[in-house]
Amino acid sequence: MTRHELPKGMIRATDTTGTHEGYMPGFGNDFETEALPGALPQGMNSPQKCNYGLYGEQLSGTAFTAHPPERTWTYRIRPSVKHSTRYTKIDLPYWKSAPNVDPDVISLGQYRWDPVPQTEEKLTWLTGMRTMTTAGDVNTQVGMAAHVYLVTTSMVDEYFYSADSELLVVPQEGKLRFATELGIIDIEPQEIAIIPRGLVYRVEVLEGPCRGFVCENYGQKFEMPARGPIGANALANPRDFKAPVAAFEDREVPSTLTIKWCGQFHETKIGQSPLDVVAWHGNYAPFKYDLTTYCPVGAILFDHPDPSIFTVLTAPSGVPGTANIDFVLFRERWMVAENTFRPPWYHKNIMSELMGNIYGQYDAKPQGFVPGGMSLHNMMLPHGPDREAFEGASNSNLGPTKLENTMSFMFETRFPQHLTEFAGKEAPLQDDYIDCWDDLEKKFDGTPGLK
Ligand SMILES: [Fe+2]
Repeated sequence: MTRHELPKGMIRATDTTGTHEGYMPGFGNDFETEALPGALPQGMNSPQKCNYGLYGEQLSGTAFTAHPPERTWTYRIRPSVKHSTRYTKIDLPYWKSAPNVDPDVISLGQYRWDPVPQTEEKLTWLTGMRTMTTAGDVNTQVGMAAHVYLVTTSMVDEYFYSADSELLVVPQEGKLRFATELGIIDIEPQEIAIIPRGLVYRVEVLEGPCRGFVCENYGQKFEMPARGPIGANALANPRDFKAPVAAFEDREVPSTLTIKWCGQFHETKIGQSPLDVVAWHGNYAPFKYDLTTYCPVGAILFDHPDPSIFTVLTAPSGVPGTANIDFVLFRERWMVAENTFRPPWYHKNIMSELMGNIYGQYDAKPQGFVPGGMSLHNMMLPHGPDREAFEGASNSNLGPTKLENTMSFMFETRFPQHLTEFAGKEAPLQDDYIDCWDDLEKKFDGTPGLK
């Protein structure tokens, strides 16, 4: 991969021990990194005076008493109170938060969308966010929203943070840079980024136009799923998550910081870049993850397990074992099960399933679910293979087969997902999706035998 130049004036740490320049490996590690030598206090968090005249400040992502607590100590040119003045409410009409139930849109249904088309319009990370569904309630920190983003232009002297949510970003086209308080993350399709609640950043276009998907998690943070009998390895491995090394800029220019707070957006005008953290240590950090490092596990003799085997990350809800969100990856893999209907079976599910196609073809739907497209199978609504997939899987010779040219994902939540007005009326909804099961035949005629 080509390396992209750092923003002008930005100074980044060079003393990383990782194998990927600019990143440190591990999920939820206690990291430490400094962009100037000696900037990070040793052996304590809050010395009487910090080196370089920096200010010490803690960013807490969990309650102090959580186990384990997640927090990061930052050493910065100005404390965050200097990056915050009076707030003015602004409107970002396409970025919705739960509860957002539109009485004119029916959310009960099986839905599929073509890709939201790219545009000539100048859209930033903020103005280009298009909410498709919301679930739960942002005010009680329960549930999620699913968005499509269309980004054609970089944020310039503009910064953002969400007090409401952690953002899981899944690019589908184009390359984006997240210049955050804790360092720089560059992502492209087949990678994801996780931006924690409260972290300030700007988003730049490295190669545009950019389109992708975002899961906005209002609830507890994403964590790695318990592997249970799978053991210590496979699925997503912790070392493949990469946190950025420290990077800062000392830039005094009129700037705007936008804050998402309880579903509303507010601006504050400041006189400098807030990306001024020279050193940090802690376990509350942004990450990137390469989806091609995900090690899928599946049936090696018969039957088709639940898709939970493909969970990359899970965000727990208040009820143990029922996720606020599961992020699930359907990537290339071998199919070897004997005497088995190999694609996903027909089902109804208390969880509501929003899928997106990153590239290629999905095995349960050979047609119609295209790269950049999305589908929604809401709570307790039946779905499954279309006729082509059913007949193909029922009649094929069951030798080992490699599913190739495929990468789709699912944001699955225990809460029903409500369509936004954009999803119901503006986005390219496929009116005929529900018809994909029309020509499934009745095979039963009362006589025994395989039909
Ligand atoms: Fe499903």
